[in-house]
Amino acid sequence: MSNSSNMVKVAVVGGEGIGPEVTAQSRRVLDWFVARRGVPAVMRDAQYGLIPYLATGKVLPDETAEAMDEADAILWGATGGPETKEVPPAARKAGSLLSLRRKYDLYANLRPIVANPALADSAPLKPEVLDGVDFVIIRELTSGIYFGEPRGIVTLPDGQRRGFNTEQYNTNQIRRVARAAFELARTRKNKVCSVDKANVLETSVLWREEVIALHKEEFSDVELTHLYVDNVAMQIVREPRQFDVMVMGNIFGDILSDCAAMASGSLGMLPSASLGPIDRFGRRKALYEPVHGSAPDIAGKGIANPLGSILSVAMMLRLTLNRPEDADLLERAVQSALASGARTADIAEPGAKKLSTAEMGDAVLGALDKVAGRAREHA
Ligand code: IPM
Ligand code: MG
Repeated sequence: MSNSSNMVKVAVVGGEGIGPEVTAQSRRVLDWFVARRGVPAVMRDAQYGLIPYLATGKVLPDETAEAMDEADAILWGATGGPETKEVPPAARKAGSLLSLRRKYDLYANLRPIVANPALADSAPLKPEVLDGVDFVIIRELTSGIYFGEPRGIVTLPDGQRRGFNTEQYNTNQIRRVARAAFELARTRKNKVCSVDKANVLETSVLWREEVIALHKEEFSDVELTHLYVDNVAMQIVREPRQFDVMVMGNIFGDILSDCAAMASGSLGMLPSASLGPIDRFGRRKALYEPVHGSAPDIAGKGIANPLGSILSVAMMLRLTLNRPEDADLLERAVQSALASGARTADIAEPGAKKLSTAEMGDAVLGALDKVAGRAREHA
């Protein structure tokens, strides 16, 4: 039996929109790993968004902040949607996802894009384009134009208004995220594509120079290429299988990761991990969340796809809990549920039976029981 100091602390924060629905399913999956595989995690549920705002005046109440502060890993659902209008902008900003990424210095955002053959028929791109797609976008998450100062909206002497933001990167910010990309590439196909707009932007000129310098100093065994961001938008839908690890600044990663979602077949399937620096005890704060966001149009209907959140638990098993075999087990269970025809509305081919969010959770848990049983027989 592990004592409490060996236990990994997980804050479970469903948040807004479809966040609570999908997180309820990934929480069941996490519970399964604790109960059935002895994964040493303790979970603490906490609220975020409009509901706690109405009760406490804060979207991120103190209890939630405390749960997230003490956590090794945060399982995050979603934020945003019509609720945002019911909360004054200042109160919104105080506990925003952006401010949390900054607070915990979660600079490396990993968004794996893997095309699933079982979903080829419901995917927006042709099966031959999707065949063999398996890459990871690493998005710098705590700097760039989303955080740069000065920023604002001012009124000019002639009565016009001007909005402005600042794109900026410094050496260390570029190097640490590039390092994350090179290190990840070494565990995969050993290829990094760095994305920038160095034909126009000074920040991108610096970005490219620093990536090249770090590569030369420490990672010359990794194949490094550079592409302009506009070209990458095209390449991702033209021939996505050319990529292995891609690294880019905050805004480029935000835009291209939605684009890349289509190269996986479905936005509802995509997990993500946001990682902080490694501290002197070897610990690394991490936030795991599906890429899809709050999807207000379907919130509360129980039809959202929980697989993005469930696959985020697989990333947590691999990156925070250091349980690669359990991560594989979960990914195999998701494959097996899909292969046996489990579909939520967003990934259903015409005529297929559509499962609810909870039924998809059941399908994954059922597949886990089977896959784990087989793993034991072969042991
Ligand atoms: C994402 C989202 C967020 C972002 C929003 C919700 C602030 O689009 O994680 O990609 O822009 O980073
Ligand atoms: Mg986005």
